[in-house]
Amino acid sequence: MQQFTVNTPTAHYAVICQRGALARAGALISGFAEHTGCVLLSSPRVWRHWGAALERSFREHGGAKKILFDDAESRKTFSTVENICRQLVRAGADRRVVLVALGGGVVGDIAGFVAACYLRGVRVVQVPTTLVAQVDSAIGGKTGVNLPEGKNLAGAFHQPRLVIADPKVLHTLSARQYRSGVYEVIKYGVISDGRLFEYLEDSLPQLLAARPAALDKVIPRCIRVKADIVGRDEHERDLRRILNFGHTLGHALEAATNYRRFLHGEAVGWGMLAATEIARRRGLLAARDAGRISSLILRAGRLPSLPRIPRDRLWRILRGDKKSRAGKLHFVLPKRIGEVEIAADIPDSLVEEVWAGLSNLARE
Ligand SMILES: NC(=O)c1ccc[n+]([C@@H]2O[C@H](COP(=O)([O-])OP(=O)(O)OC[C@H]3O[C@@H](n4cnc5c(N)ncnc54)[C@H](O)[C@@H]3O)[C@@H](O)[C@H]2O)c1
Ligand SMILES: [Zn+2]
Repeated sequence: MQQFTVNTPTAHYAVICQRGALARAGALISGFAEHTGCVLLSSPRVWRHWGAALERSFREHGGAKKILFDDAESRKTFSTVENICRQLVRAGADRRVVLVALGGGVVGDIAGFVAACYLRGVRVVQVPTTLVAQVDSAIGGKTGVNLPEGKNLAGAFHQPRLVIADPKVLHTLSARQYRSGVYEVIKYGVISDGRLFEYLEDSLPQLLAARPAALDKVIPRCIRVKADIVGRDEHERDLRRILNFGHTLGHALEAATNYRRFLHGEAVGWGMLAATEIARRRGLLAARDAGRISSLILRAGRLPSLPRIPRDRLWRILRGDKKSRAGKLHFVLPKRIGEVEIAADIPDSLVEEVWAGLSNLARE
């Protein structure tokens, strides 16, 4: 078992990463806090695969109620949150309830936000079931929902009380969903773990095949990086922004295609290629390292092709992003493998040149 602690100014909690940990969830949760009952929050799809195992783990620990809701991205809304809160009232959940989120980032973001609002805040345990959620979204306390105007525009910071990541649950993910998480794994190598990057260069096929040995090595390493960054910058004032490597263009690609063409990690894959090329052209990153980063991203699989986006539309979306400050675009740029910096002074012309050449770059 690998266990990490996240220490922020407002919370201290453990992230447990272990094959088979799902079966111990009930015991782990009962062990850490007194409560008046647990409510399991999940989606029908995730529940079909892993609900029984989670429920069973509570059998000797007082049992648990469950609330299921649709985890389509389009249902990550206030109305879903309201609906769950009302079901909690009807279930008699009081301030000392513990909510347990079993699912990917959508379930985790919704359940976390419910926990932040219900009775002005109750405890939540995250049990992430996608690779993206295990290495990223379940840790760090960012919760929220989408608005018709854009993704993740309403939410709260609300740290979980415990995170239980069981690599075993990833085996029922679709191949494409799984691979989407691999791009986020590559991100961690580039932003702060050169040794992880080297491991991926050697062992990417094993990770793509979801071999236990590869997963058991990679997931804890990513968790360690995320836990460390969140501990040092809980509210994304500065350091935490390095997690957005590949996300400036990535988010724009998702928005420009109405979140239909790319899975998040795939859009981030393109975004990382673009940021790497910007860094190379600025002379910030050696050509050799740029080549290594690009080739690792491309080895992860075929990315959905880039859409044609009219120039002014692309800029409108890029400038409207949460990561731009006062209309200035921020890019997270690699300096070398394992270290990045945030740049706010990239000329528009350079962004346009890289964007124009991006498809060709991938082909080369
Ligand atoms: N809070 C954060 O810090 C943070 C970070 C990254 C992403 N996110 C959010 O996370 C969401 C994306 O999350 P995601 O990539 O985990 O995808 P997801 O939650 O949309 O899940 C993808 C699909 O896989 C299914 N699924 C989940 N686990 C499964 C399993 N073990 N077996 C079979 N099917 C399974 C789900 O039902 C869903 O259909 C986005 O809304 C994004 O905004 C949040
Ligand atoms: Zn991401």
